[in-house]
Amino acid sequence: MTELESEAMEAEFGTVAGWTEEAVRALGPEHAVPAGCRGSGSEGALRWLADRLGLTAGSRVLDDGAGVGGPAGWLAAERGVRAVCAEPMHEAARAAHRLFGLPSVTALAQRLPFADAAFDAAWCLGVLCTTSDKAPALAELRRVLADGGRLGLLVFVADRPLPPPLPEGNDFPTEEELRGLLDAAALRLGETATADLGDSPPEWSERADAVDAEVSRRHGDDPRWQQAQEQSGRVGRLLADGALRPWLGVATAD
Ligand SMILES: C[S@@+](CC[C@H](N)C(=O)[O-])C[C@H]1O[C@@H](n2cnc3c(N)ncnc32)[C@H](O)[C@@H]1O
Repeated sequence: MTELESEAMEAEFGTVAGWTEEAVRALGPEHAVPAGCRGSGSEGALRWLADRLGLTAGSRVLDDGAGVGGPAGWLAAERGVRAVCAEPMHEAARAAHRLFGLPSVTALAQRLPFADAAFDAAWCLGVLCTTSDKAPALAELRRVLADGGRLGLLVFVADRPLPPPLPEGNDFPTEEELRGLLDAAALRLGETATADLGDSPPEWSERADAVDAEVSRRHGDDPRWQQAQEQSGRVGRLLADGALRPWLGVATAD
């Protein structure tokens, strides 16, 4: 294991990210955003957050834990803002650069390689629930945001003890815990909402499914693909039975 909190997560967010890039190249660039949104849920969730980040054409934006770059690619295409992607898994960081032409750096949220106040806005989607080191990650976000900068969050929160089988390596906070962590990091929470994960155009799911099918055709026998499928299946089941809730929030750097 190198950086993440379980080998299963490294397979899902590293190896499979590289395979996703390979499949998108085979199927065509219109597949990149839907396949590249790994965990960010839906286009509706991205729109809800982007509308609240105070973005202008010149905004300096960070996508923290960007994965293969689908959300940042969406932001560039829909809002004309080119985010900088930071992501600890090298295969994913490389895919974000190659698929969307965005600046991308391999880095953990807890050690961001940026100057203080380097960004006017940031988002961090589906990441805080994949690390138990949340306070240092939020402190880093606060450090790299200018005063008054906005932070958009998607976090899968656990409202009650979760029934097994649990995805390996995840650490889902309660909403109360999350609010306390934001407060301690001098990130003042404003609007919140629950994401509707089904709120994407039908071609999104069709294209994401086509990419999954292509990865499966190429790598379906590889245990890392089966492990990654099992991981995402477990998260999906917890969301479907309401044990996990896709929480959206926007905070301001005080
Ligand atoms: C569910 S995926 C979401 C990816 C992307 N934000 C999206 O919405 O498509 C979680 C991402 O968090 C990254 N991650 C895990 N631990 C991290 C950490 N300590 N710092 C930054 N990113 C991390 C993973 O590598 C993975 O790309």
